[in-house]
Amino acid sequence: MNGLDNSAKIAFSATNQPAPPRGGSFVCQILAPDAQGLAEAARLLNRGQLVAIPTETVYGLAANAFDQQAVRQIFVVKNRPWIDPLIVHVANAAEATRLAVWNDLAQRLTEVFWPGPLTIVLPHRGNLPAEVTAHGPSVALRCPSHEVAQAVLQRTGFPLAAPSANPFGYLSPTTAEHVLAGLGGRIAAVLDGGPCACGVESAIVDLRDPARPGLLRPGPLTPETIRQQTGVWVDADQAPAHAPNPSGAQVAPGNLSRHYSPHTPIQLVCAGEISPLLQTADSHTAFLFLQRPPEGIVSLHPSIFWLSANGNWQEAEHQLYALLRHIDSSRFQKIVVESPPPEGPARALHDRLQRAAAKAS
Ligand code: TXA
Ligand code: MG
Repeated sequence: MNGLDNSAKIAFSATNQPAPPRGGSFVCQILAPDAQGLAEAARLLNRGQLVAIPTETVYGLAANAFDQQAVRQIFVVKNRPWIDPLIVHVANAAEATRLAVWNDLAQRLTEVFWPGPLTIVLPHRGNLPAEVTAHGPSVALRCPSHEVAQAVLQRTGFPLAAPSANPFGYLSPTTAEHVLAGLGGRIAAVLDGGPCACGVESAIVDLRDPARPGLLRPGPLTPETIRQQTGVWVDADQAPAHAPNPSGAQVAPGNLSRHYSPHTPIQLVCAGEISPLLQTADSHTAFLFLQRPPEGIVSLHPSIFWLSANGNWQEAEHQLYALLRHIDSSRFQKIVVESPPPEGPARALHDRLQRAAAKAS
């Protein structure tokens, strides 16, 4: 059984809820991605409100990036630490050049991969509220390809600071229902653009030193694809070597080893270790395979799930958070997950599962 129950709602315990935003709670409007819904989203954003918007990766919690009060609300609503800087979403590269000190490598990569699931980190120009960059010297910029996100950017005319639209540390939302389950009473509206195509967050590439581009967070766009299409190798092992921002702001995102986590504990195991566990596990354990296992395995336990029918990594990424949320909202006490390979096309999947499995420190 791997079907998703769309009506599944996650019950958060009181301790997992962010503090209510100042100014009281909201009845969150669900906006259709039509002319009327887009106009309402733009009106709310113009007034300094927060609106969750779909992107091709995950839903983002958007605010006018130039509005300091609105940006602060993002941190309050998400219960996000102030040291964790936000990604700024722009309509195009020209808008990005007004916020960051551009270089040739930024030009080259954005010409090929924007709009799309690539976030770049560059020195900023000092024209954004300091909270956006967590008082650090660099800014993360992304130009989303989702037509609804693009339409909002076009209508508002300002860049949008938008982290994933979930309480800090929890799984990112890939549907409007996920947004409502986590932040429904705390934000003005969510634009419902359906399920996100990618399902995991963008790749973040540090371009501050164009001679040594570094991968800060793996995503749907892999270093291998970047090399294939541009000849540029983005070093996945170099991230920790980059000097941290003097302010203490995180240079590498979700650098907290535990992040993107369900409430149910996860145990990551190699493929060969799962079968013996299946035979001994009780009904409080769920098993998550990377691809559909043979019938002989499926019949061994009542709670077996899989991310992809036949080992397609894109499908697995697309399903990851939705399926983990579904399992998390069920009765299980533990999720045993088959570990994907750490490199190549499954790099982002491996990264998110490792963080989801990390123990809270
Ligand atoms: O796909 C995505 O990137 C989604 C959608 C909504 O665009 N956004 C997203 O945002 O994943 P968020 O806040 O959940 O993760 C952004 C990460 C943060 O963990 C933060 O540490 C990092 O980006 N980040 C932001 N600014 C940075 C900077 N100047 N230098 C290094 N990392 C930065
Ligand atoms: Mg996030």
